[in-house]
Amino acid sequence: METMGVGIIGCGNISTAYLKLAPLFKGLEVRAVADLSPEAAQAQADEFGVRAEDPEALLAAEDIGVVVNLTVPAAHFAVTRAILAAGKHAYSEKPFVLSLEDGEALRALAETKGLRIGSAPDTFLGGTHQQARALIDEGAIGPVLAGTAHVMSRGMEAWHPNPDFFFQPGGGPVLDLGPYYITNLVQLLGPVRRVAALANAGFATRTIGSGPRQGETVPVNTPTNIHALLDFASGATVTLSASWDIAAHRHANMELYGADGSLYVPDPNFFGGDLVLATNRDSSAPVDLWDHPFGRPNEEKNDERRANYRTAGLADMVAAIAEGRPHRCSLDLAVHVIDVMTAILRSGENGQFETLSTTCERPAPLTPAEAAALLKDAE
Ligand SMILES: NC(=O)c1ccc[n+]([C@@H]2O[C@H](COP(=O)([O-])OP(=O)(O)OC[C@H]3O[C@@H](n4cnc5c(N)ncnc54)[C@H](O)[C@@H]3O)[C@@H](O)[C@H]2O)c1
Repeated sequence: METMGVGIIGCGNISTAYLKLAPLFKGLEVRAVADLSPEAAQAQADEFGVRAEDPEALLAAEDIGVVVNLTVPAAHFAVTRAILAAGKHAYSEKPFVLSLEDGEALRALAETKGLRIGSAPDTFLGGTHQQARALIDEGAIGPVLAGTAHVMSRGMEAWHPNPDFFFQPGGGPVLDLGPYYITNLVQLLGPVRRVAALANAGFATRTIGSGPRQGETVPVNTPTNIHALLDFASGATVTLSASWDIAAHRHANMELYGADGSLYVPDPNFFGGDLVLATNRDSSAPVDLWDHPFGRPNEEKNDERRANYRTAGLADMVAAIAEGRPHRCSLDLAVHVIDVMTAILRSGENGQFETLSTTCERPAPLTPAEAAALLKDAE
């Protein structure tokens, strides 16, 4: 397979993960980075030995076939449109875009140009989430009837030095963290058909807790506490609680309740973690984790070894282009997840059930052998 040149637009917080992890994968090579701030681009270029360019030059570069959009959510649509207009494949961080209309506009442009669009999250390709998928598909808990998912904390302003966008329209916990949870639910259970939600905000302002702006107050202009009901096409019903107003809680990240048992799935914001299978109230046991390449710990964080294979979705898209097959972090999946999230927020405003206008296929499972094939050195 020929190596595809990768450019990155957006050299903030998350760009370091992509620049560090991309070299693990076959078939791609990061060659240039760009940012509205030339200093930010230069700093990452110096650290990782790639070219720093302005965004226009990066989009015109002949040695780049796919551009990764790591800008802030409000810029995702315009930057992905510019990438496609320049004739390059596009891969975006989450949330893919902020409205269904923007998603459909990008779909139309990509179709006209014969280009691919992919979007994070790719954490559902992690070893544990793929094992959960395999267990569900082989009927370990029977048909899934219901589930709960909780992603609740006191917010992002304590650690992110520029948290303003989290608290503006386009931010909030559903659009920011919902992609991990909803994408994983869709890979496990299939598409959603309608949603309803309650949404409010517990705090009018937030105070930045780190970096040069520490102590500065930012306004809150979007719901930060959302309780949603998701009705899946399969018939499964799931409650999703997404909040940045909660100091502490004792709920689990994700529990799926099947006709023959329950499966407790770890935080889909990460690639690894433990799985627990419970066949009745008195009997639950950790599942022996399979040896999946995207579940192997490769990073130390807060004294814990954990698996981080961000860029896996991009590597799968690059391989899929070469092999002429669909990629897993697909446009259809990303657009459906945007539909789910924006419908949840609409329902939070209007108090009505919202029926979705999009659907999608579940992405293909990623077996250990298929994951190994994406890595340069799987052993
Ligand atoms: N920080 C994380 O841990 C994390 C994790 C997963 C996903 N993400 C997602 O990644 C994206 C970026 O997050 P971040 O935390 O790195 O943000 P950030 O604010 O640290 O960095 C964003 C960068 O994009 C640049 N930028 C903004 N608009 C641009 C434009 N039009 N053209 C070129 N550059 C532009 C900014 O100058 C900035 O350097 C977001 O969508 C976020 O949801 C972040």
